[in-house]
Amino acid sequence: MGYLDAEAVQKVLSVMLNEVKHPFFRTNKWILQSLRSFRMTFSLFWDNLDLHYGFIPAGRRNSGPVVILTFRSSERIVPQYVHMDKKPSWRLQMKTSGNTVLITGGGTGIGFCIAEEFVRSGNEVIICGRREEKLREAKAKLPQIHTKQCDVSNAKDREALFNWVTANFKGINILVNNAGVQRMIDFKKGVAELARHEDEVDINLTATIQLSAYFIPAFMQRKESAIVNVSSGLAFIPLAIMPVYCATKAALHSFSISLRHQLKDTPVKVFEVIPPTVDTELDKGTRAQRNMTYRGIPPSEVATATMKALADDEFECAVGQAQGLMDASRSNFAEQFGRMNH
Ligand SMILES: NC(=O)c1ccc[n+]([C@@H]2O[C@H](COP(=O)([O-])OP(=O)(O)OC[C@H]3O[C@@H](n4cnc5c(N)ncnc54)[C@H](OP(=O)(O)O)[C@@H]3O)[C@@H](O)[C@H]2O)c1
Repeated sequence: MGYLDAEAVQKVLSVMLNEVKHPFFRTNKWILQSLRSFRMTFSLFWDNLDLHYGFIPAGRRNSGPVVILTFRSSERIVPQYVHMDKKPSWRLQMKTSGNTVLITGGGTGIGFCIAEEFVRSGNEVIICGRREEKLREAKAKLPQIHTKQCDVSNAKDREALFNWVTANFKGINILVNNAGVQRMIDFKKGVAELARHEDEVDINLTATIQLSAYFIPAFMQRKESAIVNVSSGLAFIPLAIMPVYCATKAALHSFSISLRHQLKDTPVKVFEVIPPTVDTELDKGTRAQRNMTYRGIPPSEVATATMKALADDEFECAVGQAQGLMDASRSNFAEQFGRMNH
């Protein structure tokens, strides 16, 4: 008896969906019989397949009729929900070990914690950042990682990074676009104020877009691959004192949605990790200036949530209070904006 692989499951599904002819709600009895007979048929070939059916209620993510396939492989047991209302497209949930991962800005904060999680789960990890000493410190803590000095806002550096990574790590299949900066900018002070700061658009947005464009064609050749964009709860409700930062994160959210849609029939999955306030170096200076005493959640919590999102196909992963901002942007934007920007 063989184990089911993605191709085999695709075959199972196409036969099943053609035969069952959704809607399967004609009668529950009828679908039960169908599933039973499919199960019998396929269990002749695969002993690790279980079929059930169910209905995810309205209002929940992916609501509607589903067939639930549980297949046991040597590595994991993963229930898969196959939607009868949607075009059958079978994709395995990401495995969280055995990948090769590039994390931009992986020397500190959230990026470093994500690197730690990936290393712990048995992945090859490459991090990059501008400051050599931060990369060295990271390497001292995590000797297995590979480091590359790179300014992702610089086009030549991005190209060099892509060439170096693909030459040295042929199996690269996950890109975590995490590098970011956050600035308070007072537009009343005009263009000179803008020039005082690094360009947040280049670092937070352009780098993500360009690096994604570099890696996607290679990722399409992999069995499974992923782009993980780290945005922010502030993508949903902006903090007006950081207008450019919030705009870049809102753009990242939009970009992630479009990319996910464009790549839906490829092996490349697009995840967006949406952290709340996190206790990192990101905004240490201005938090003090703003008399902000709340330091935020530890970055390790974001890293844990990221790994869980990858394992569960949770494409938009809002962590902690970021979920509240996301929800408020849809239900009571003005009230929440007012609360945050009085
Ligand atoms: N902390 C929060 O409250 C929070 C909340 C929501 C979202 N986020 C997002 O989480 C991500 C990680 O931030 P963090 O909180 O972990 O802060 P962090 O510790 O300051 O991490 C940012 C990392 O990005 C790197 N980086 C910045 N500019 C770069 C560039 N041009 N090229 C390459 N690397 C660059 C930094 O290293 P170098 O300076 O050495 O280059 C640093 O390692 C950011 O995208 C941030 O917007 C953070």
